[in-house]
Amino acid sequence: MLKKAEQLSTDKKVLEPYLKGQGWLNENEKIIDVEIPGAGNMNFTLRVKTGERSFIIKQSRAYVEKYPKVAAPAERALREAEFYALIASYDDLKKQMPRLIGVDSNSHVLNLEDLGDGIDYSFLYQKDKNLEEAELERIITFVATLHNNINTSTTKQRLPNREMRKLNHEHIFIYPYVKENGLNLDDILPGLRGVGEKFKEDKALQGIVQKLGNRYLSDGTTLLHGDYFPGSWLRTNEGIKIIDPEFSFFGDPEFEIGVTLAHLKMANQSQNLIDKALKMYTNLAPLDEHLCMKFIAVEVLRRILGLAQLPLTINLEQRKVLLEEAREILV
Ligand SMILES: Nc1ncnc2c1ncn2[C@@H]1O[C@H](COP(=O)(O)OP(=O)(O)OP(=O)(O)O)[C@@H](O)[C@H]1O
Ligand SMILES: [Mg+2]
Repeated sequence: MLKKAEQLSTDKKVLEPYLKGQGWLNENEKIIDVEIPGAGNMNFTLRVKTGERSFIIKQSRAYVEKYPKVAAPAERALREAEFYALIASYDDLKKQMPRLIGVDSNSHVLNLEDLGDGIDYSFLYQKDKNLEEAELERIITFVATLHNNINTSTTKQRLPNREMRKLNHEHIFIYPYVKENGLNLDDILPGLRGVGEKFKEDKALQGIVQKLGNRYLSDGTTLLHGDYFPGSWLRTNEGIKIIDPEFSFFGDPEFEIGVTLAHLKMANQSQNLIDKALKMYTNLAPLDEHLCMKFIAVEVLRRILGLAQLPLTINLEQRKVLLEEAREILV
């Protein structure tokens, strides 16, 4: 019989017996401290410290942790685990991600190596924060190595991750173009609502976005991280590490690189750095640059106009320029 999924909590009285039951703590090992390791939205994520070690526990639930009223695929942690399994025989990839110590398929919990209390690269959206070339190189090399090595001609394994893709599809390709989607853009930045109106009325633009959306939903050849933006890049004492492949699937590398480049743009990185990023990637792996540009445009539109907002600091005029540029690319 299937066991009921356990709802983890920060309460040691709940956590300690659970972790012992999983064999993730020794019989006489005690939890000394638990802490929130960093700002996540989707999942219940916890750093557990004992006298002997620390590790990260990540549980996915049938809703978004930060917004419990918003439903989300409950088993997404298991999709994340499948990604770790797929990279398991690639040392170059493994060493840039936390080690997956254990999986509880019943309660959708991952036990991950603790990479220390580094910060993610979301600070890039702040004013005058620039990525160094060596950092960019690590970020691009990782993803090119992933794309080159794990694809439908090198593995029989598949990772459709349909439910997470469907969720992401709504956020990327649908909600940004819905007039009353529950978000007043003027609350994000005064004037943004007016700027956004034109895009919400542009049927030609939306037709093209919809086609790209169908492409995102159809299966591709290449294993993607699926959410390759500054929030998934962690700054640690051992350099940049990559986390959180819960949106991974086999798709178009152009989608992945398009997302990455879009974020470099929204983080106001220099055109020189963005050109370098593209060049670094195309020196390592094949890319349809035309298609990639379209996915850059789609990501810019959805992050500036959609629900999954970022801590951007670019002003209204800069956002308007990026949106116009995106429209030019698409139509
Ligand atoms: N293995 C790890 N080692 C150290 N810190 C980690 C580790 N995994 C996650 N963290 C920290 O916890 C934060 C949240 O983790 P993660 O992004 O995996 O959760 P999430 O719920 O999927 O977040 P999001 O809603 O942003 O997708 C990270 O930004 C990071 O600061
Ligand atoms: Mg996540």
